[in-house]
Amino acid sequence: MSIGEPLPRPDGRDKVTGRARYAADQEVAGLLHAALVGAPTPSGTVTAIDGREALATAGVARVLAAADMPRFGPVAPPSAVSKLPMQDGTIRHEGQPVAIVLAETLEAAECGAGLVRLTIEPAPFRPQGGGEVAVPPGIYGPVTFTKGDPDAAFLAAEHQHIAEYRQPSRHHNPIEPSATIAVWEGENLTLYDSVQHGYSVQAIVAAALNIRPERVRVISPHTGGGFGAKGFVWPHEILTAAAARVAGRPVKLVLSRAQMYANVGFQPNMVHRMALGAGRNGRLTAIKHEVEHVTALSDDFVEMATAASRGTYASPAIFTAQKVERANVNMPTAMRAPWEGPGLWGLESAIDELAHAVGQDPLDFRLANYAETDPATGKPWSSKKLREAYEEGARLFGWRERAGRPKRDGPWTLGFGMATCSMGAFRFPSQAQVRIKADGSVTVETGCHDIGTGTLTIFPQIAADVLGLPPDEVELIMGDTRLPQGGPTYGSSSTMGVGASVLRAAENARELLGRLANLPAGEVVMKDGRIGRRGGLGAGVPIGDALRTAGVGEVVGKGRFTLPGDAPFNADGEGTPHTIRTFGAVFIEVGVDCELGLLRLRRAVGSYSAGRVINPRTARAQMTGGIIWGWGMAAMEASPYEKKLGRWLSKNLAGVAIPVNADIPSDIQIHFVDEFDPHASPLGAKGIGELGATGVAAAVASAVFDATGKRIRELPITPGKLV
Ligand code: MOS
Repeated sequence: MSIGEPLPRPDGRDKVTGRARYAADQEVAGLLHAALVGAPTPSGTVTAIDGREALATAGVARVLAAADMPRFGPVAPPSAVSKLPMQDGTIRHEGQPVAIVLAETLEAAECGAGLVRLTIEPAPFRPQGGGEVAVPPGIYGPVTFTKGDPDAAFLAAEHQHIAEYRQPSRHHNPIEPSATIAVWEGENLTLYDSVQHGYSVQAIVAAALNIRPERVRVISPHTGGGFGAKGFVWPHEILTAAAARVAGRPVKLVLSRAQMYANVGFQPNMVHRMALGAGRNGRLTAIKHEVEHVTALSDDFVEMATAASRGTYASPAIFTAQKVERANVNMPTAMRAPWEGPGLWGLESAIDELAHAVGQDPLDFRLANYAETDPATGKPWSSKKLREAYEEGARLFGWRERAGRPKRDGPWTLGFGMATCSMGAFRFPSQAQVRIKADGSVTVETGCHDIGTGTLTIFPQIAADVLGLPPDEVELIMGDTRLPQGGPTYGSSSTMGVGASVLRAAENARELLGRLANLPAGEVVMKDGRIGRRGGLGAGVPIGDALRTAGVGEVVGKGRFTLPGDAPFNADGEGTPHTIRTFGAVFIEVGVDCELGLLRLRRAVGSYSAGRVINPRTARAQMTGGIIWGWGMAAMEASPYEKKLGRWLSKNLAGVAIPVNADIPSDIQIHFVDEFDPHASPLGAKGIGELGATGVAAAVASAVFDATGKRIRELPITPGKLV
């Protein structure tokens, strides 16, 4: 059994020693470096581009304007935007690419980009906070939901709580910026790209360039973090491919940290309008949750944060609605813990406030409103052990005993808070194969990625479990669209989808090998590098011998994970008899220095009901990372925006605080309830990565209230809000 073992990462050493090669590290002969020239205004028209001075710079080869680019074919999701830049002079947001400088060196390209003279006819623009508010068309289903009579139920409620909770725009800021190298050989295009799903890039770049997808190969050896910024396909990837075609040479584009702010999305600022009603006994009678956030002028991005309020607590009446504010900003996108990450900031803050109003312990209040079935549909859960997660988390934290704990530590006033964690389940189909060769080598082959989440560790682990091999003898080959089409690396979906396809491929390889060895189907057992009959493994043969005896060089087992109706996507088990979600609870202790307004995380416990855990070490790392991400949301992160100029103000990591080691205590405990979900995936696993980031901000605000008596309803909780 290798599933369940806390195996270390096989890619860890390469990554920390700098040996791992990312997209921009690929060596391609004769390439040109590209630098984007971004629009300096959020709205208007480029009427002229003068590249003469740039071209006079040593090493600059080309200055490309819209007129030099091919006319792109129509694109739709997973393209992040439908209106591609450099097709005409239109400027829709600040930083939108309007020209590309190609040069022999990166320095020359960047120097040249600074020398391109733009003539712009500016136009009035709608800034963030001054846009047009609209009800968007539903992209992931309807944007409103009603159960029962929420208005009447709220008005009749004994206890009522109405409040607005706000959060700022935030950027993903993965360590590795987005980067693309485009290489044409005749009509065939190879892209080395930093992505979370290469097949999306293949499809969209092919559509934009009017070529067949088979002509596009996307290779992404490693991805240095994504957090959602590399999930959809962004214009710079298409522009790089087009520039290479126009120039007749390979082209490499690495977005600068500043360019990451306007070219690969962000999490939009949001307001949650919450109204909760409860009876005298503390039972919820109404949940109302409306979300409004900014989006681009060209496309409606909808962050379905209200999903949290349809799926977390039992209530006879529920109303949710989404609105967007269309402004001259770049396109927002999903960011780590989409939907419930922001949604539970609103819902769990309101729940905490209502629990206090009712006079119940916040944990008891949540237990009293426990959803035994899906509150929106009434369907049974595929699995749910949230009650155990609450209890075990409370015990590990000492929640019930907190009244007896000291409330001071020097200048620090201490506070305790908790919140429910939950995520929906995004599932995607996936294919994989497992190749066993006579020389004893075993490879798992699937075109997925490892963005730091541990897929390189757990997929070999899953195959090794079936094949009875040490996991370090199984290698994962990934990140290439020539491989069987693996599922994406977003939406906390990889273990369910890709993992299940690897499981099936390994089982198929075992069956094929068994047939070669004349073993009856269903009775094949593999262990310690040998294959034999169930109960009689002593008489088994080494795998290599089985192949050689049969005169076969290799066997290739194939595996698939499919969704009902062969759908390309399934949210929360829709269309199946069960609703699939993950659950948990997070408990937080903070210290507040009320004089200086300082806020510190002192310890945290995360306790989760999220299906079977494949690797406790990587799983723990995922949840710890989630809590740290949540702390950043709670206490630090905001991308300041300049309304007059219509642009991001601080386009670098110096101006945007994110948690570093000094912000995070070592006392973060992670616990998983023992669980197997047969409906989510044949592995029994569900998604875990993003779950850890949910609930944290609300738990922190609750702890701050406990310490100070102050309710903070706007993130991040910075010193100015605490003094
Ligand atoms: Mo995550 S926003 O699903 O990469």
